[in-house]
Amino acid sequence: MADRLYIFDTTLRDGEQVPGCKLNTEEKIEVAKALEELGVDVIEAGFPISSPGDFLSVQEISKVLTYPTICGLTRAVEKDIDVAADALKYAKQKRIHTGIGTSYLHVHHKLMSTEDEVLERAVRAVKYAKKYVEDIEFYAEDAGRTDNVYLARVVEAVIAAGATVINIPDTTGYCLPEMFGEKIKYLMENVKGMHKAIISTHCHNDLGMATANTVTGVLNGARQVEVTMNGIGERAGNTSLEEVVMTFKSHKDLNIETNINTRKIHQVSRMVSSLMNMPVQPNKAIVGRNAFAHSSGIHQDGVLKLRENYEIIDPIEVGAHESSIVLTARSGRAALKHRLMVLGYTFTQDELQEVYNRFLEMADKKKDIGDDDLESLMGNAEKQKVVVKLDLLQVVTGKNLLPVAIVKLDIGGKKYQASESGIGGIDAALNAAKAILRRPLRIHEVLIQTFSRTSEEVGKVHIQLEWEGKIYYGFGSHDDLITAAVEGFLDAVNKMAPITVDQPHLA
Ligand code: KIV
Ligand code: ZN
Repeated sequence: MADRLYIFDTTLRDGEQVPGCKLNTEEKIEVAKALEELGVDVIEAGFPISSPGDFLSVQEISKVLTYPTICGLTRAVEKDIDVAADALKYAKQKRIHTGIGTSYLHVHHKLMSTEDEVLERAVRAVKYAKKYVEDIEFYAEDAGRTDNVYLARVVEAVIAAGATVINIPDTTGYCLPEMFGEKIKYLMENVKGMHKAIISTHCHNDLGMATANTVTGVLNGARQVEVTMNGIGERAGNTSLEEVVMTFKSHKDLNIETNINTRKIHQVSRMVSSLMNMPVQPNKAIVGRNAFAHSSGIHQDGVLKLRENYEIIDPIEVGAHESSIVLTARSGRAALKHRLMVLGYTFTQDELQEVYNRFLEMADKKKDIGDDDLESLMGNAEKQKVVVKLDLLQVVTGKNLLPVAIVKLDIGGKKYQASESGIGGIDAALNAAKAILRRPLRIHEVLIQTFSRTSEEVGKVHIQLEWEGKIYYGFGSHDDLITAAVEGFLDAVNKMAPITVDQPHLA
């Protein structure tokens, strides 16, 4: 039988420490409910003493959730523990997460203390927290850089004091997988009473090794992993939930299972990304928009013959759209033929060669080839595209003002105008453009990049739009970010089935 690995999600605590990712209580409850549905075992809902907002969030999440254990973070300080216990009082299952720095640097240059004094404080904090709850997790901050012999002494003492979970954080993301694995193994083999607690990993991604370290930790005996959705967190982030879960799901021979309903991964990833304003990098494992996209001819041919040729995970298993074949100048005949057949075209081998030659000419001029391009390539005259261009954009926005945008679009030489409000300038402008087009377009992602730290930034905006179940990508660039966003939006729109000037509302 497989061993159970507990998933401790800290998106709402470590993840939320990222500048710009602050959530209000309602948003945190929304994320917490989604994490409960996803099947996480423990939710670290906040650091109650850090602010009244964090206290309230931990309290409200405790009231609303049923299955996961709700956890509150504290320092090894009595007041912190009192406040956390109070915030957790409505939780059906509760845990206090307390701890202190144990590395030489933290002991001597942060806490200005000694090893013996830190050990005593750790034990005192665990005993004190035990007055309130049975389930106590102890973290040895900067354990990644802590001497293993001293770390084992601390761990042994806090287990004797009642700790049920021992968190070994690689706080600075310093460890190599072998080092981290060795550390867990050392504790498993050298701490008296280790069987009374479980070891947890908590890895940061400063060297890009958070997932590798976490997996190695588990292979050496850890049975809880601390993770965040999309890997968000301090600096380079925390270990990402989806990577660890899918690693063990993909390597069944490792005999480790979790309670995660993996088909919900993409949905929760998108929710966290949009509520926290943290775009997911396109090539992010599992949840990036290119994670299941194939653009080279050799790969497209292989995937069309058998998906497993170039994919180790079925996209359906993580709730993603099916594998996508992106038609570019590097695509081969197999991908072109497949897409044209989906659009209803059939042809002989010779005809295919002829269409393929014309396709390559077109693909050399355009980056991505959409269905509408293929229609015109096939000579489908009545579906010839009418290009939608931005003719005018005026936005009024500011503090304590409702952002309002006027957008005028040129559609096949005719001008159409709308004005709309929104949450911000970009939202207002996109709402106005949507009002003109009157298509049920759903924006999945708006990824903004800027290229200088001065106010004369050049903005680049990538947009993902969904229409009739298909995703379209658009890109816009302009010195003004709102203009770049509208240009990106229209770029995606222009890749869809044609807008026609005789659409009733455009006449
Ligand atoms: O990275 C870290 O050490 C932490 C602890 C507070 C658990 O986040
Ligand atoms: Zn951390």
